[in-house]
Amino acid sequence: MKDVIRNLIEESQKFLFKRAKIDDKIGLEAAKFAVRDIPEYNGTFEKSNSPLIQWIEEATKYGNSETENLLKTLQPALPYLPWKYNYEPRPDMPDLGDQMGWGEILGPEAPYHDDNFCFGFTLLGKDTFYPAHYHPATELYVVLSGHAIWMLDEVPQLRGPGEFILHPSNHIHSMQTENEPMLALYTWSGKDVKTLSKYV
Ligand SMILES: [Fe+2]
Repeated sequence: MKDVIRNLIEESQKFLFKRAKIDDKIGLEAAKFAVRDIPEYNGTFEKSNSPLIQWIEEATKYGNSETENLLKTLQPALPYLPWKYNYEPRPDMPDLGDQMGWGEILGPEAPYHDDNFCFGFTLLGKDTFYPAHYHPATELYVVLSGHAIWMLDEVPQLRGPGEFILHPSNHIHSMQTENEPMLALYTWSGKDVKTLSKYV
């Protein structure tokens, strides 16, 4: 599994490297991961027992020609990512942890240790609302599979495979899926990638 994950990291870096050639804010953010040195990892990857596993098969079906190669590399790794959901519980939405979460590969608490940068994948089930939230880190997403309404600073936009989305530090954002699950690659950068995301 270690080779599968390593390959996934390299393919993800290549994917962002292509976008980094465009000289804009998203390109600059993509470059931070594309050229990053990835540390060694000497642990093992265990099969996840997260409830999110219910979505992984369907979650790779809604890619496009731009994302299908990365999705193929990602597919065998998905059951072994360290899927988690670690927001404070919400009494109004008690099942959110079954519907959404992320598998972080690089970061302060991730298998590949980095105190200053995070990289992983976010998964949302069908008909799922990821409530409005914010965090100090600058966040870059690229949708790999599925469509969702992405809301940033109260502006909604339908986003699909191959689209990049930049969330500046502490700007409020949310997502809503409908009849497709959504799988997206994300990175976190900036001065503080350790403070967790909070709901508004
Ligand atoms: Fe976020």
